[in-house]
Amino acid sequence: MSAAMPVKAAILADLLDFTGDPGQSDRHSPAVRWRPAHWLLIDAVGRIAAVQPEPPGDDWLKLDHSGRLLLPGFIDTHVHSPQIDVIASWGTELLDWLNTYTFPAEARHADPVFAQAAADLFLDALLAHGSTAAVVFPTVHPTSADALFAAAQQRGMRVIAGKVLMDRHAPDNLRDDVAQARIDCTALIERWHGRGRLAYAVTPRFAATSSPEQLAMAGQLLADHPGLYLQTHVAENRAEVAWIAELFPEARSYLDVYARHGLLSERAVLAHGIWLDDTDRALLHDSGAQIAFCPSSNLFLGSGLFGWQQAAAAGVNVSLASDVGGGTSLSMLRTLADGYKVQALAGNRLTAWALLHAATRGAAQALRLGSEIGRLEPGLMADLCIWDRAVGAVAQRRDSLAHGLHERLFAWLTLGDERNLVEAWVGGVCRSRRPAAVARSDGLT
Ligand code: GUN
Ligand code: ZN
Repeated sequence: MSAAMPVKAAILADLLDFTGDPGQSDRHSPAVRWRPAHWLLIDAVGRIAAVQPEPPGDDWLKLDHSGRLLLPGFIDTHVHSPQIDVIASWGTELLDWLNTYTFPAEARHADPVFAQAAADLFLDALLAHGSTAAVVFPTVHPTSADALFAAAQQRGMRVIAGKVLMDRHAPDNLRDDVAQARIDCTALIERWHGRGRLAYAVTPRFAATSSPEQLAMAGQLLADHPGLYLQTHVAENRAEVAWIAELFPEARSYLDVYARHGLLSERAVLAHGIWLDDTDRALLHDSGAQIAFCPSSNLFLGSGLFGWQQAAAAGVNVSLASDVGGGTSLSMLRTLADGYKVQALAGNRLTAWALLHAATRGAAQALRLGSEIGRLEPGLMADLCIWDRAVGAVAQRRDSLAHGLHERLFAWLTLGDERNLVEAWVGGVCRSRRPAAVARSDGLT
């Protein structure tokens, strides 16, 4: 797979991306860049060479996807690779869900052969859902991080990940300790951070499963290696928040636990952030950290409703994330549609632009990767997806009746999912293609 080389390819489609932040409610934002029936040219090293209305010369391989949408690949800023195995598990809230379903599934990744197969399956699934970049939790086992990084490197994907840190309140077979974790993280950072399109994220699972000593070690790793990311969970569930307050009585809030250990920075990705207050939001803004809003997971686990309006008012960066397996789909279209509904409950009617921006340019900027991914701009990596606007009779009918671009695109993101994906390209290579429908005759008489 890694042997695949980009060719000089030119794709004809309807191009959509953003030149700025479209805000939350402006359907006519000038930040929306709509270029229908344009050619996107990809150079021989997998970068976008040009976008133009006229076809290029004979030395370009021309691919006609006219009438289809072409967007930057989606960026899923919070997802758990081992949790494909527990997606759609019934009947629990966060803390029970972890103990009942998630920890047993993650324990199986101690086996490197199992972990490698799972990492391959996970990244292929991510691509087949239209996400070309992701911030990922593997498991506590260093080999699970190795497996994920190796699989991402094979596919040329922009992946940010790190071995999970967990030295307490977890089953024996999923616990590390401070000294060994420091050694393992340091080796993984040396092996993977900055290699190709990979970056290392120091990954304390959440404040409940890391001792204060382990959180301090995580902060030391970040201080010692500028450019590392930090990923964790914060303020997701009310019982969890109460538990953190018991475990860290000296901290002002859940978020303050991370602040006290030097974990907040402009490269910090904190999942959920449902139960925050104004002081927390000011701290997030001042540190430049981002919240990964995970609407599907928040609904499925009954965690609560994220206050995007309050976060935006405080200037906090917000991206969108599937949080599989708490979330029930790897599809960012489904995630965005759930995000719309969660915000609608608070009277906040997000435009399609606000949602699509958060999953492309917005996430890229928040990750400090805006000069690599998230837009259809010469010089950026050719990480992109080609989509059918409507699949099936209902979506086709709705699409045919839509007036104007926003109505049409909002219907696409609300009704669409991975079945709308035609192709996903990473670094100028087509890495996922929807199989053509083939009639089956075997076994039929
Ligand atoms: N908090 C700690 N671990 C997890 C996890 O795996 N998923 C979610 N949604 N929240 C968590
Ligand atoms: Zn999570």
